[in-house]
Amino acid sequence: MRQIPMLDLRLEYEYMQADIDVALKTCLEHQKWIFGPEVKKLEDELAGYLGVKHCIGICSGTDSLVLSLRAQAIKLKNQEYFNKTDEVITTSFTFTATGDAILRSGATPVFVDIDPGTYNIDIKKIKDYIKSNQNVVGIIPVHLYGQSCNMDEIMNIAEEHDLFVIEDVAQAFGAGWKDKKLGSIGTTGSFSFFPSKNLGGFGDGGLVATNDDKTMELVRMLLKHGGKDKYNVDHVGYNARLDTLQAAIVLAKFKYIDEFNSKRRQVGDQYNEGLKDIKDIILSECLTDAFHVYHQYTIRILNGKRGELQNHLKEKGVSTMIYYPFPLHKMKVFGDGRSKSFGNLENAEAAAQSVVSLPVEPLQSMEDTSYVIDCIKGYFNG
Ligand SMILES: Cc1ncc(COP(=O)(O)O)c(C=O)c1O
Repeated sequence: MRQIPMLDLRLEYEYMQADIDVALKTCLEHQKWIFGPEVKKLEDELAGYLGVKHCIGICSGTDSLVLSLRAQAIKLKNQEYFNKTDEVITTSFTFTATGDAILRSGATPVFVDIDPGTYNIDIKKIKDYIKSNQNVVGIIPVHLYGQSCNMDEIMNIAEEHDLFVIEDVAQAFGAGWKDKKLGSIGTTGSFSFFPSKNLGGFGDGGLVATNDDKTMELVRMLLKHGGKDKYNVDHVGYNARLDTLQAAIVLAKFKYIDEFNSKRRQVGDQYNEGLKDIKDIILSECLTDAFHVYHQYTIRILNGKRGELQNHLKEKGVSTMIYYPFPLHKMKVFGDGRSKSFGNLENAEAAAQSVVSLPVEPLQSMEDTSYVIDCIKGYFNG
């Protein structure tokens, strides 16, 4: 029986093997494992690609969020951490790390609901919250599944209320809003090189992108223990460097990012066409100004049939995943007064109950995608 995994990293490695093997061998020869030449090269190349002044390699996407937030606390408040009264607005329908990073920076996450069509943060809810709350210092929009939030509206709100914006671009490397690459619009952009990401390494890694010199300087200090001089530090820092080896791998894979994102978009288009007439499925809405890179292809299954559909697909050899089964405001870690929820967050809760993501491997054949579509049709028609 055909097996269709969510992603096939071995297949991708074989496709890029010559480039990756040379990159690894080069590292083995120069032995500069910490801040080796590949880290700077990656930072420079990605800054050019994203259209930003600075890129800074970090050990993970999570740490890139934490360091970006800490840099804002130091820059704006002249203190190491935010106060608990400082609030950062984000979506409840994201990976835990987005909310956790806010906690780790000392601030309080304020979860607002999502737009049920795109699954991204509901901009109207951000406006409503800010109208009656004076303590908001920033916003973290998450470009979920590879699709941009409406960055025009978010930047307008930020400008009006003097807020920082940290774009969580972990799922959307190469995606765009109008003529801009995501991660280049807010105060900073946070990327993840987790292996399954659109641009992933062979382990953990991340990146901060920014046009702001002060933020760049602070993030560079924080990632190596908090000082310009590692043996005489100014801030409460971390060991959060991006490894040379991961930088070398990401650099080798970067050559393929546009090709792979375009392949992901082809898979997405094929699913959109093949699944559009099934009445128990709602397809995600795509904004016309957003260049979607389909980190995930996610649909909503109506009438409580998600579990049954997943079992049916499993029997046919098709993998599926649920991103995410629990919205953040339902998790214990965000309880005990550590976070705030604005309103009832019903769209985030409904999404957690009904979404399912289908395989999107850039090298997945059209036949494999058709097979997934046929299996889904078989379930609903049979
Ligand atoms: C939306 C989002 N934010 C943050 C992260 C954290 O990235 P990392 O796993 O590299 O720490 C991830 C990745 O899993 C993510 O999907």
